[in-house]
Amino acid sequence: MSTIRVDVSGVAPGTQLTVKWLGKPVFIRHRTAEEVEKAKLQDEEAMGDLVDPLARNDNLDPSALAVDANRTMPSPEGSDEPAETWLVQMGVCTHLGCVPLGDSGDFGGWFCPCHGSHYDMAGRIRKGPAPQNLHIPPTSWVDGTTILLG
Ligand code: FES
Repeated sequence: MSTIRVDVSGVAPGTQLTVKWLGKPVFIRHRTAEEVEKAKLQDEEAMGDLVDPLARNDNLDPSALAVDANRTMPSPEGSDEPAETWLVQMGVCTHLGCVPLGDSGDFGGWFCPCHGSHYDMAGRIRKGPAPQNLHIPPTSWVDGTTILLG
């Protein structure tokens, strides 16, 4: 599988970088402490009521549940940022493959305008026709500011 290195040093908190990997968009979201907090609240309200209860995270066992901590990357070594700061996911709607819009939708996450799928702040499908959470590709930290995809 091909891999790419992505320098995320310029991705400010509260913004997202979109890169192409294997011909598809990948969203790299640098969450603020407030966003992490909101995602944790969504964890509580969403559990037991998720369309797709699985994390869909290639870095974890396929049976891992879709809690926020299972959807986000661990902090890079030496970082003082809280865990769950970085969310890296495929920018491909799990309905029919459109590219969802960031900072949109009823749950403050992503919204797919093609047929109206709403994803929350952890990229979990909450409303609309998409059957699965946004998929999470293989990721790891090369160093404190570089993510390896693939
Ligand atoms: Fe996203 Fe249909 S492709 S809702």
